Amino acid sequence: MRYKVNVGDLQTGMYVTELDRPWVGTPFLFQGFLIESGEELEQLKAICAFVVIDEAQSKVAVGSVGKPADDSAVSAQEGAHQPEKSPARNAERPAQARASVQQNVGQLLASAKDGKEIDIKESQKIIARLIQQSVNHNLMMQMSNLRNRQDRDAGHSLNTAILAIAFGKHLGHSEDKLRLLGLGAILHDIGKTRTPREILNKPGKLTDEEFAVIKRHPDEGYEMLKASDNVPDEVLNMVRYHHERVDGSGYPNGLKGDEIPLSVGIISIADAYETLTTDNAYQPALTPVEAMQRLRTTGTDGFGKDLMQDFMRFMGLYPVGSVVKLNSDDIAIVFSADQKTRMRPLVMLVRDSKGTEIRPHRLVNLAVLPESKLSISSIVDPRKYAIDTATLFEKELGQ
Ligand SMILES: [Fe+2]
Repeated sequence: MRYKVNVGDLQTGMYVTELDRPWVGTPFLFQGFLIESGEELEQLKAICAFVVIDEAQSKVAVGSVGKPADDSAVSAQEGAHQPEKSPARNAERPAQARASVQQNVGQLLASAKDGKEIDIKESQKIIARLIQQSVNHNLMMQMSNLRNRQDRDAGHSLNTAILAIAFGKHLGHSEDKLRLLGLGAILHDIGKTRTPREILNKPGKLTDEEFAVIKRHPDEGYEMLKASDNVPDEVLNMVRYHHERVDGSGYPNGLKGDEIPLSVGIISIADAYETLTTDNAYQPALTPVEAMQRLRTTGTDGFGKDLMQDFMRFMGLYPVGSVVKLNSDDIAIVFSADQKTRMRPLVMLVRDSKGTEIRPHRLVNLAVLPESKLSISSIVDPRKYAIDTATLFEKELGQ
């Protein structure tokens, strides 16, 4: 039996299955949770007016404080947030949504490789979905932390699109412009379908000849898409110029400054960040913080100071996916951070102070706790604690 319970009447031992607001953006797990501490009670009081408790999964009696909950009772609450049932039961989970989108991207790249005509209609559908999801910045950043080990190329295109759309949105771009950014990001490396695999996957340093072959992919992509006749000019530019850099150090044409449109810069920086944070043939993945340091030190001249600063503001001090140590010595992953609360993000506790794995992982919203109680003391290297952030995000987001 499920009961609607006002937050003032909640007790530890009750099992929460629904909130009166969307789960995403709250400190709580999508799939429901047992209230185990006064801290969690306080968090619920801070963000909800009422919740739905499942008595069968609770450790205490609920009937005396709640009203039987059916869907109409929940939605009739006056002045409450729109109720949203757990996506675990009622909607496609973020990781599943991403997996089906990625399959489409994989098919697109495969047909380009086979020399078939490139159908951008499918890509446009994919991008429309991503733009819908982009209203939730944290969901986008969480999805960009997912990886696909089977199809690295499709994963790279999709992650670049997620980052480019989220960054474009942060910069205040219109929906039309976000659509172009999404399409440019999905297609930016399509020319690599013409690059021999043994060069693309070669571990270690490339010879000058091999690098010259790689450098052909922006022009090859441009030629492939120009032939398909329905790709907007802005998108053709993103494909052709995504390795150009404002200091003239890029390729293929060594363009400089204003010769490179802003939309191209957005794709370039999203592409570079995604490449740095993913394992590939020539270097293992950097952590989000390491990637930001690398971009800042070696990329500022190439991307331009303004764009680099915007990107740093967009990613924040603790990018989603960073691993941090708290003042309790617990180790946590940054799970979401809003513009206003980015110094005190939502974190997922994964190791206790002795290094033992915390199971199940607990989400804690630092923003609603007093700073004296719990705060971030440093950023740490996930490798030191054998933490695989991509796998953890997959589990949490339901892949
Ligand atoms: Fe590229």
